[in-house]
Amino acid sequence: MNKFLNFLSNLLFMIVLGIEGTAHTLGVGIVTEDKVLANVFHTLTTEKGGIHPKEAANHHAKLLKTLLTKALDDAEISMADVDAVAFSQGPGLGPCLRVVATAARALALRHGIPIIGVNHCIAHVEITKMFGIKDPVGLYVSGGNTQVLALEGGRYRVFGETLDIGIGNAIDTFAREIGIGFPGGPKIEKLARKGEKYIELPYAVKGMDLSFSGLLTEAIRKYRSGKYRVEDLAYSFQETAFAALVEVTERAVAHTGKDEVVLVGGVAANNRLREMLRMMTEDRGIRFFVPPYDLCRDNGAMIAYTGLRMFRAGIRFRLEDTAVRQKFRTDEVEVTWD
Ligand code: ATP
Ligand code: FE2
Repeated sequence: MNKFLNFLSNLLFMIVLGIEGTAHTLGVGIVTEDKVLANVFHTLTTEKGGIHPKEAANHHAKLLKTLLTKALDDAEISMADVDAVAFSQGPGLGPCLRVVATAARALALRHGIPIIGVNHCIAHVEITKMFGIKDPVGLYVSGGNTQVLALEGGRYRVFGETLDIGIGNAIDTFAREIGIGFPGGPKIEKLARKGEKYIELPYAVKGMDLSFSGLLTEAIRKYRSGKYRVEDLAYSFQETAFAALVEVTERAVAHTGKDEVVLVGGVAANNRLREMLRMMTEDRGIRFFVPPYDLCRDNGAMIAYTGLRMFRAGIRFRLEDTAVRQKFRTDEVEVTWD
């Protein structure tokens, strides 16, 4: 009976498996149109932070089979039930992307199913549509990426992005400097709650874009001077950096006239950033949404879900279209699936 029901539901619902591996997280996710059936990942962490592309690629190659098996187990399906395989085609680190693309090609060929290459940044925003979000402005904040993006004229346009380092990297570097280890995000957030006094730091908005290196350098300089409480510095760091993120997001909202804002990426965990965005969106009377954290950070389910939407719209990849794209830009993708 169960098998028969499974068979019926497979006719109605597509099942897509997605593999994420643009940086130091390897993820495998399995989704249908409206559900995450599995979402497993493993992140390579190093003592000093930072990332070595070859080491990360080895990490992915070693763990792929384990994560694949785990995801299928969690979803209670086998590869025979999977209708298509999606993979993170870029942007990201060459060696990591190649491991993931090779695995996806092998699966597609072995099981005779279609393959779809997905833009990582777009997938971060697309996953919010599983929760009823229609057409948002996305603030995508992670270790390596900081981007404000939204659909306009059939493409995701970047309304502002970091000109140097990602906000997560900036936070992690500051955390390392003050000796509280990696990843610094949650620890800086905790310290910042004990901040009492705002210390002036360079503002991070540069035209429509962002830049966090000046802010980071100055925060480190002030820390080394020994004249400031570290809690006040952590607090001021967050207030200054997040105000810039909110400002650029708000400008994109004003420009596009959209009425939804989503916060995605690993830094979306931060409660102060959420609070500031909530205030901005409440002021404007628009919706604010943050997906569950496992769908915010780098993960396979967002790749699978974007792949599913692309496939549903008739997008097909030939094997020769699956070459990795290290510098894959958000606005290179023609969004025909919405
Ligand atoms: P990408 O490859 O997309 O750049 P990533 O490899 O940085 O992603 P994520 O899991 O998306 O991986 O994000 C990790 C980042 O999120 C780290 O820089 C970490 O410090 C940051 N982070 C996690 N929790 C918090 C928090 N509570 N506050 C601020 N930053 C946080
Ligand atoms: Fe990411």
